[in-house]
Amino acid sequence: MNKLSECIINKNSSFIPIWFMRQAGRYLPEFREIRKKNIDFIKLCLNSDLASKITLQPLKRFDLDAAIIFSDILMIPYGLGQKVEFKKGEGPILGKYNEKKILITQEADVIKKFKPIYKIIKKVKNKTKKNVIGFTGAPWTLLVYMLNKESPKKNFDFNFITKDKLLVKKLLEKLVSTVAFHITKQIEAGADVIQIFDSWAGLLPKKDLTEYCFNPTLEILKRVKKFGAPIICFPKGIKESYSDFCSIVKPDCISIDYEVDPLWIKKEANGIPIQGGLDPKILLKDRAGIKKEVEKYLNIFSGYPYIFNLGHGVLPETKPETIEYVTNIVRNKK
Ligand code: CP3
Repeated sequence: MNKLSECIINKNSSFIPIWFMRQAGRYLPEFREIRKKNIDFIKLCLNSDLASKITLQPLKRFDLDAAIIFSDILMIPYGLGQKVEFKKGEGPILGKYNEKKILITQEADVIKKFKPIYKIIKKVKNKTKKNVIGFTGAPWTLLVYMLNKESPKKNFDFNFITKDKLLVKKLLEKLVSTVAFHITKQIEAGADVIQIFDSWAGLLPKKDLTEYCFNPTLEILKRVKKFGAPIICFPKGIKESYSDFCSIVKPDCISIDYEVDPLWIKKEANGIPIQGGLDPKILLKDRAGIKKEVEKYLNIFSGYPYIFNLGHGVLPETKPETIEYVTNIVRNKK
């Protein structure tokens, strides 16, 4: 059994596995080199040769315990027929959604489009003994992108997004089944662990968390449990509701963001393995500042099943040497 599974399934705390969200990305010059020649980001995610190569880039440089597949959460709206574009400096831009088209899309149509993704997983699996992590967006975060059509960072109105209750209900159901199915196919292709990113869960008013975040995630976990791969959930930004998330959703592992107090969550998680937490901005500080913060997490979670990671993705301005530095601190921890 490999390191992440050992920590999550067996709750083994004698070793701290390490990987980074967005470890394959813009902070790496070798990624930027490939990206420069491949303007269409979706096409790049569907190019199994290049995407498997990008997935393995961070493992060539650093002593990490897992490869996260190079893909994107917005492959799901793309698979459901919505146009998805990544414009330089603007983030993702989605096209108009066609409710009817989305709702009648069949699993077979999605598989056809996603075949290269499952091929990437197989290729990566053949090239590394490390854990291979598959991933997906959570229904709420995907719904936000699909209806908002751009990052909610710029503009977002909860009441506007959820105004058409029937549409939202139908779309969420479609997303639950598409996400569950995409997870299953990734596990079949060889993914050892799956992470569900609910990057915009923090936009939900507390009273609406059950309907839009907890329940859809619970339903997905129920559907994929029998396939055996552990699922890491990352409901970013829900603050004190991390406690309810753990007791209601009971994920195999909970990924925390940088606003979560690590000492508090250790008490609240009820033994559920914990991942992450360190603010990615800390990696832009000097070495003494980085070491202090990394060691804080290592000390707090000593003796608890913990996976080292950040509280969100690696920032593009991070120096690759910093990732190496952090990895060595975690590795040398006794
Ligand atoms: O972690 C990894 O190394 C694997 C690859 C990965 C990507 N996206 C590649 C990517 C993963 C796990 C994701 C997840 C993802 N994508 C999330 C959840 C995590 C989070 O950050 O909250 C979200 C919200 C997205 C949607 C998305 N994709 C946005 C908002 C953007 C543009 C801005 C940004 O953060 O980069 C992307 C583009 C994207 N996805 C890039 C990469 C390497 C950058 C593409 C480029 O412009 O070169």
